Amino acid sequence: MRTTTTDAGTVLVTGPTGGLGRALTLELAGRPGPERPDLLLVGRPGERLTEVAAAARVAGATVHKIPCDLSQLADVRAAAATVQDLLATGAVRPLRALVAVAGLTVNDTRAASADGYETTFAVNYLAHAQLIGDLLGSFEEPARIVLIGSDTYNASRALQMMGVPAADWRDPADLARPAPAERSSGARATGAAYSNSKLAILYYAHELQRRLGDGIGVAVFEPGFMPGTGLTREQGPVVRAMLRAMARLPGMASPSRSAPALASITLDDRWARLRDGTYVVIDKDTEVAPFARDRDRELRLWEATEELLEKVPR
Ligand SMILES: NC(=O)c1ccc[n+]([C@@H]2O[C@H](COP(=O)([O-])OP(=O)(O)OC[C@H]3O[C@@H](n4cnc5c(N)ncnc54)[C@H](OP(=O)(O)O)[C@@H]3O)[C@@H](O)[C@H]2O)c1
Repeated sequence: MRTTTTDAGTVLVTGPTGGLGRALTLELAGRPGPERPDLLLVGRPGERLTEVAAAARVAGATVHKIPCDLSQLADVRAAAATVQDLLATGAVRPLRALVAVAGLTVNDTRAASADGYETTFAVNYLAHAQLIGDLLGSFEEPARIVLIGSDTYNASRALQMMGVPAADWRDPADLARPAPAERSSGARATGAAYSNSKLAILYYAHELQRRLGDGIGVAVFEPGFMPGTGLTREQGPVVRAMLRAMARLPGMASPSRSAPALASITLDDRWARLRDGTYVVIDKDTEVAPFARDRDRELRLWEATEELLEKVPR
């Protein structure tokens, strides 16, 4: 059963323009009056952002588009400043939740973000660490931070057979470095970069909760395998056709099937207990693999993240 007794306030969503983030945005916008939050949609500017904002408004939500390319820390910092202004002027209700949905996979780990960091690490992890860090003082408690993980961090045998490698953790300064120009970037390296970024999210979530009071709960949501979303847009036409066919299989997860669970974790009372980066696979608390809880790695990631962000002047 769904109950939201705390004022729904405002929810910030990154990645509202496609797949899971778009479905989450419309799910939240479609909630009945008192349970419907105001929405801050942080996404790349363009038609997709305009369209989802318009659809959420039609559903009845107060919506602000916040243009932001997460591969540029300057954009992320400007987005955080815009959020602070909107909250300070009362244009939206108090910030109750941030859901960091945006993510990508790349075909080449030699590709660098605007700030010189490997793109997968930069967008999936670092940009969100910057955004959350800038907004930590802006939440009204009780509040929630929900990050999006993926079981690929610990790829099962089935995933590995499909060519999805597990994380191969290295020092974060190394993970943030694009592969050297002379090293060709195969599917294994790009898959591992994605899995590493999702393991980084788990480590970050655990360390973040240690540094927050009890008033802000941190959780990591795994939406299930949703073939055919934009996540695989860089794959060739054959793979994409195969994924679209898989998406039609009965029982397969999809953005529209997983978004209600994510909306519930974001706002509903039944999930208010979530703390410590609890890993929720669709709607079940799930223990992570033992290596995904590691105090030394978590502390090192925190410190390295501060260093990587400081290297890019404001
Ligand atoms: N699909 C799966 O099977 C699966 C499984 C487990 C976890 N996940 C996770 O679920 C989340 C959503 O993925 P999805 O499958 O819904 O993929 P998707 O359809 O590609 O959606 C990804 C979202 O991230 C945004 N994004 C990507 N790069 C960005 C950038 N540089 N700046 C701003 N926004 C950017 C996209 O914006 P644009 O519209 O501008 O490109 C889009 O809104 C991701 O974190 C993914 O890792 C997916």
